[in-house]
Amino acid sequence: MPVEWNESARTWTLSGGDVSYVLHRDGQDRLLHLYWGPRLPGDALRYEPSDYHSFASFDLPVSVLPSEIPVCGTGWFGTPAVGIRDEKGAEVVDLKVVSAEILPGKPLPDGLPAVYTEADTEADSLAFCLEDAVSGLQVTAVYSVFSDSGAVTRRLILKNAGNAPLMVTSLLSASVPLWQGNLDILHLNGAWARERRPVRVPACEGEFRISSARGASGHEENPFLALCERGADEFSGQVWSVNLVYSGSFLAFCRTDIFGHARLSIGMNPDVFSWTLDPGESLTSPEAVMVFSASGLNGMSQVYHRLYRDRLVRGTWRDRSRPILLNSWESAYFDFDENRLLEIARKAAEIGAELFVLDDGWFGKRNSDNCSLGDWTVNPEKIPSGLKGLSDQVHDLGLQFGLWFEPEMVSPDSDLYRAHPDWCLHVEGRPRTQARQQLILDLSRPEVQDYIIDAVSGVLSSSGIDYVKWDMNRNMTEAFSVSLPPERRKETQHRYMLGLYRVLEAVTSAFPQVLFESCSGGGGRFDPGMLYYMPQTWTSDDTDAVERLKLQYGTSIVYPASAMGAHVSAVPNHQTGRTVPLKMRGDVALGGNFGFELDPGKFSPEELEETRKMVLRVKELRDLTRTGTFWRLLSPFAGHITAWAFVSQDQRKVLLCAYSVLSVPNSAPVRVRLRGLKEDAWYETEDGRRFLGAALLYQGITLPLRGDFDSFVCVLKSV
Ligand code: DGJ
Repeated sequence: MPVEWNESARTWTLSGGDVSYVLHRDGQDRLLHLYWGPRLPGDALRYEPSDYHSFASFDLPVSVLPSEIPVCGTGWFGTPAVGIRDEKGAEVVDLKVVSAEILPGKPLPDGLPAVYTEADTEADSLAFCLEDAVSGLQVTAVYSVFSDSGAVTRRLILKNAGNAPLMVTSLLSASVPLWQGNLDILHLNGAWARERRPVRVPACEGEFRISSARGASGHEENPFLALCERGADEFSGQVWSVNLVYSGSFLAFCRTDIFGHARLSIGMNPDVFSWTLDPGESLTSPEAVMVFSASGLNGMSQVYHRLYRDRLVRGTWRDRSRPILLNSWESAYFDFDENRLLEIARKAAEIGAELFVLDDGWFGKRNSDNCSLGDWTVNPEKIPSGLKGLSDQVHDLGLQFGLWFEPEMVSPDSDLYRAHPDWCLHVEGRPRTQARQQLILDLSRPEVQDYIIDAVSGVLSSSGIDYVKWDMNRNMTEAFSVSLPPERRKETQHRYMLGLYRVLEAVTSAFPQVLFESCSGGGGRFDPGMLYYMPQTWTSDDTDAVERLKLQYGTSIVYPASAMGAHVSAVPNHQTGRTVPLKMRGDVALGGNFGFELDPGKFSPEELEETRKMVLRVKELRDLTRTGTFWRLLSPFAGHITAWAFVSQDQRKVLLCAYSVLSVPNSAPVRVRLRGLKEDAWYETEDGRRFLGAALLYQGITLPLRGDFDSFVCVLKSV
């Protein structure tokens, strides 16, 4: 039974895979958290108040109570999951459980991205209704547990069932007391061109917070936070984690209480969010995905990978091999015309690429990044045949044709801005802060959303486009919509996200055959919210292969390889100036959605030949990298050798990838132990060497790496 109610203990136990999550309705109808960890039978736990808090004379019981939905003003002193300001300016809530309902499958929120089920047997759900009698606030807490993995999702729906407006000042999607301490915090930190580096620090007294107030999930932090047992590593130990299915500003934190016990929370960032609920109105929080693993970080990541690959990503491309693309950005930047593009496309076809992507610079009068965003009509001086003409010629080469857009933006120097100067985020009477010489369209406004839907759809329906790169290259300033009254202006960022999701739903569902890839200055919006609409994301603007080891490794903590754009670029690399051999560049890129970010016309005949072979190999391996179980084996953050592997679901095929960055003199050969194989199966390498699964698992395989920037990619098949 995935959701069990135990009448005598007044507990609900949600179970799936090897995991249980247990809640309790206490004698005062408060909803308490009892447990999240290895699977337990539904009658295993009893709530004993003395087990859960001490009554030191000064402490209010509520401040240390394992509340499942901590609220403001009644004794909880941290950031509440639900904070409300009433008409009188008071911030007090007291939630009592009124009812609970067990539901088959997983209900979906309206207008927000979420993981889903395809059959009711895949998950079960539990919806609690809680009420604050004085204000009339109703909170519905919707939990779902996935039967195979034990991943739990939660979202809150707030409804004003009272007679006066209520302002939501705090809204957390998940807030879980773990009732233990001595844990480490893991988060994914970064910056432009070096996103999602795993950082692990001990959870200490007080509070550890990560957040974004940028109006995007951001390059700096990912909406993900995990707590790990001190000894937990990639392969063993307990890990609890939360990830927000949202692409805007967020807050995640670990708060340690007076007993040293940690609480893990994630949700809206109250610095840039509030929301007024008039009587009768509702607001739904983004969904949090909560993953527990008793088998270390790889175990946790594998749950996210599978769930996101199979039940977050949607549409035609979810289960299909992704085309090998060549993107014009690093080969031409803004400096191209139709002939030059066709030259590059011709070479792309010669090396076996399947999709040619025209990046920035094709529209308005854009020859640098200082104009024309918003004017989504082709520049006839650069492309005299028009987009349809160009796309036909690219199709004639046997390639698909893709196009870059940055639809959420407007350049001050554009026809759109001249026609609608008030359509951007701004505050009357204040300068409009520009970044990359552009402003952000106010997507909280329906007329702006409609403009974007029409402009992008117009191009897609008339020009033979097979792929779209949807970019977003700056963060929000003056993020207060002029269309909202003053008391509602702090709703702008969230209204923008709801508007963006409406636009993405409209465009992607109108063009189901088009492959969409999201991008935000590289990986500034690499989050589950975007993956719900677009199955892949451009991982980073840093295309250097050595840096990509860290990028792909760090990104894989949460996101599957099938979500990562991974391209071979020219040397010296444009971001780092480093020269890495073509072989290693290819061997790194084959760990994601493979492509090129270079002009193959500049290749020597030998390089062309090597690239052709590389492409053929990627075509053979791409289904395995898309659907296989991904194992991180050796970390690029720990030493000069990185290794990872993809193991097919039937455990019969393994792709082992290993890389050496700088060689170390007088060092022993490095052996790596494989994971996820059958002990008693024999595996054979492409050069005919045979290994017993148990030997690969427990003794490992020696990596024949030599010298700087060397790589070893090897397929083993069971015989
Ligand atoms: C940022 C993206 O990450 C790049 O790949 C490229 O598309 C540029 N924008 C174009 O302006």
